[in-house]
Amino acid sequence: MKVVLGFSGGLDTCACLRLLQERYGAEVITVIVDVGQRPELFRLAEERAKKLGAVKHLYIDAKEEFVRDYVFRSVKANGCYEGYPLSIALARYPTASWLARKALEEGAEAVAHGCTGKGNDQFRFDLTLSSQAPGLRIIAPVRELNLTREEEVRYLEKCGLSFPSTPYSVDENLWGRSIEGRELEDPLSPPPEEAFQLTQHPSRAPREPTTLSLGFEEGVPVSLNGKRLGGVELIGELNRLAGRYGIGRIDVMEDRILGLKVREVYEAPAATVILEAHRALEALVLTGEELAVKQRMDQKWSEMVYRGRWFDPLREDLEAFIEATQRRVTGEVRVELSPGRAQVVGRSSPHSLYDREIVSFHLPGFDQRMAASVTKFHGLDGRVPRMRG
Ligand code: ARG
Repeated sequence: MKVVLGFSGGLDTCACLRLLQERYGAEVITVIVDVGQRPELFRLAEERAKKLGAVKHLYIDAKEEFVRDYVFRSVKANGCYEGYPLSIALARYPTASWLARKALEEGAEAVAHGCTGKGNDQFRFDLTLSSQAPGLRIIAPVRELNLTREEEVRYLEKCGLSFPSTPYSVDENLWGRSIEGRELEDPLSPPPEEAFQLTQHPSRAPREPTTLSLGFEEGVPVSLNGKRLGGVELIGELNRLAGRYGIGRIDVMEDRILGLKVREVYEAPAATVILEAHRALEALVLTGEELAVKQRMDQKWSEMVYRGRWFDPLREDLEAFIEATQRRVTGEVRVELSPGRAQVVGRSSPHSLYDREIVSFHLPGFDQRMAASVTKFHGLDGRVPRMRG
């Protein structure tokens, strides 16, 4: 049996690679999809794939696609679930789609992934695989064999590959990084410095704040400090800038799809700055009513993405509304970076709804006397009962 395995070179997928051969009698093709992980991870993954017996190892660069089709849509929707900018969730869809495509191309009988039966990623993988390649069998060895991380470490030790006795469970891409396991499973225990890779502690950040300017066109960031940049480059640059200031460390209690409440730690420097800036620009160009309705649509969109339901017509229906609102989300936002904090300090847009003439306390603008007749009727329905006595 030929199997295509989504492979990161981490503990779970290394164990899967051996298990597929030994327990499932499979011939395994490993596939790693580049969604902006740190580059050193690719060489490591390739070495491990060879060492553990993959018959073929494929690298797919999906960075542009990830940013264009997933991250930027998420920016437009202010994508966020319980304080988490969906970094990992978003990347699962292009990754699983590539696995399906490669499995069909290679004539494989099954697609395998390293998800456990406790997390959210199994939903994103399984739902994507079954919608993109309905005929393929899905194998999730860690879930099927009900393995713990310790069992995986011991198993791989016997195969000649050693891991730290209890490694963190980490996942990363251009939009952020998640760290789970070990002492982080105690919600009271502060994450140790070694858990972080994209951000340094705010106490090590430059003391002097710096202000940057982000340019948006129709809801997506297109320039940084006046320089036009492609999405991948812009996010990479912003990860470095904001990461130095220790911006985007997120420590939350999260409600997983299965109903498990867990402690999650993330670092997402660029996402934190971009989402903050995007919301500020929307607040300038959308009406109060538009903002209120959009907030509900955004929340539903985020929930769908979190819950594995990318390939669901409702996600696209929500996007039709979201897209329509983004036509005016063009302009410039100034963000001040200081240790541990990104603060919007200015915004401008050709579509701004702000009119200084009208609102200023210092300019005549409109005739204040006209307002009195409005207050007379405003909320009248609610006043009627008291007026009756
Ligand atoms: N809780 C996050 C999510 O559901 C992160 C998942 C992290 N995955 C991992 N394999 N460590 O999107």
